[in-house]
Amino acid sequence: MSTSFTIEVHTDKEDSLDSLREDVLTGLTSQPKELPPKWFYDKHGSDLFERITRLDEYYPTRREREILETRSQEIAALSQAESLVELGSGTAKKTHLLLNALEKTGQLQEFIPFDVSEKTLRESAALLNQHYPSISVHGVVGDFQHHLPFLPQSQNNSPRLIVFLGGTIGNFKPKERIAFLNQVASGMKPKDTFLLGTDLLKNKARLEAAYNDKENITAAFNKNILRVVNRELQADFAVEAFDHLARFDQKNSWIEMLLRSTRHQTVHIGALGIKVEFAANEEMRTEVSTKFTQETVKNELDETGLKLSEWWTDPADDFALSLSHLCNSTILR
Ligand code: AVJ
Repeated sequence: MSTSFTIEVHTDKEDSLDSLREDVLTGLTSQPKELPPKWFYDKHGSDLFERITRLDEYYPTRREREILETRSQEIAALSQAESLVELGSGTAKKTHLLLNALEKTGQLQEFIPFDVSEKTLRESAALLNQHYPSISVHGVVGDFQHHLPFLPQSQNNSPRLIVFLGGTIGNFKPKERIAFLNQVASGMKPKDTFLLGTDLLKNKARLEAAYNDKENITAAFNKNILRVVNRELQADFAVEAFDHLARFDQKNSWIEMLLRSTRHQTVHIGALGIKVEFAANEEMRTEVSTKFTQETVKNELDETGLKLSEWWTDPADDFALSLSHLCNSTILR
């Protein structure tokens, strides 16, 4: 029985500040301006996101949970996993559905949560360790666009289940998605499986409503990115002079969230020693959230050497989980 857990750290507060500086410099000197969505999630932003997941209009979290509730046993049986690796595990709230099912197979030995936040990772590792005393928990702190190669490989070819839930892959642009999936695939062995959560294309009204909730929680979440930059990089965005906007872009099949400056303003970024002009009504993109079909998921997996073998959706067809494996492997059908 293990009563402890281990944590391995590949990125810290300093690295994170470096990368914020770089993203802000690049994003605010580009035309049109853009900030990457990874910067929403400080403590306040993570709390706002939690609230979003409980909104009537925001269906993805709820739908993914429904699928996991129905399919976890099947996923466990198909994967035969001895090790569960969760990318971007966050608070690992949905993970217990998988852990319970995997534990029942009697084969599961370890859980490897991977997240950028050391604090979140420590908290969830401690909790999971208490809950599942027979499973060893080994947390890895890293950024999944840089540190995937540091994930421990499977030992003596024992099967691992790698999961990336929540539809977070939708936040990547097409090139970034392919790079990410290539990294995942290159770390996989023939007996490993990959479980991916993707939000599905549906009518525009429902998609837009999910990002324009009546209580304006998503608006607060979107504007929080400005507070993060103000605090971390000594900037002076006038947060109240930006409007939240979210709209569906049919061509790219993604929702984009933007912040629109309601007036002309000059923003100083102290830590970068620069000033940036925003014209009245200028829009800055803060997130894309791609909406997939079975075909687009299958094609992107294919392109990166992965073969889709299972596709599960909720009864309303709102969200999907897919299970795939290396295309030269024969473990699933
Ligand atoms: C957690 C990244 C999947 O894109 O829907 C929620 C984040 N943004 N509301 C998403 C989000 C606005 C969410 N992901």
